[in-house]
Amino acid sequence: MNVEILVNGKKVNADIPASLLLSEFLRETLDLTGTHVGCDTSQCGACVVHIDGVSFKSCTLLTVAVDGKSVTSIEGLARTAGADLHPMQEAFHLNHGLQCGFCTPGMIMSAVDFARQTANPTEGDVRHWLEGNICRCTGYQNIVAAVLAGAAAMQIKAGG
Ligand code: FES
Ligand code: FES
Repeated sequence: MNVEILVNGKKVNADIPASLLLSEFLRETLDLTGTHVGCDTSQCGACVVHIDGVSFKSCTLLTVAVDGKSVTSIEGLARTAGADLHPMQEAFHLNHGLQCGFCTPGMIMSAVDFARQTANPTEGDVRHWLEGNICRCTGYQNIVAAVLAGAAAMQIKAGG
């Protein structure tokens, strides 16, 4: 099937099998391997990307379902902020919100959507939102601190 998808700001036309998952399309067809696949049960959240600005687990979607839409993966996130690093990426870096980094792309993509939707989030808000993202390395404390810092930075940048 033919699809036309805007991926990280670039129009991509492809002829793909109807059964191809979006996570497979990104990783195997486009070589955008920053989107990780950490489970086959739709539970780890490592594969989260944005579709028209909203976070989705790319392992749960067929690529044909995003025909005509805009997909942003971790590789394209900074571009949406017009910077080398998105404020949420910078916050993860500064707050040591990662160890092995496997969960990090999904965490960051989820966190950006969370921060866009939640003004002045609390620690409890962050922990609740990130229930769908599993980290096998950290105790989550630094991740939560990073998300709170990133959300605050995004709010300042947006002037809100
Ligand atoms: Fe998508 Fe785990 S790979 S939720
Ligand atoms: Fe290793 Fe989260 S930093 S899985």
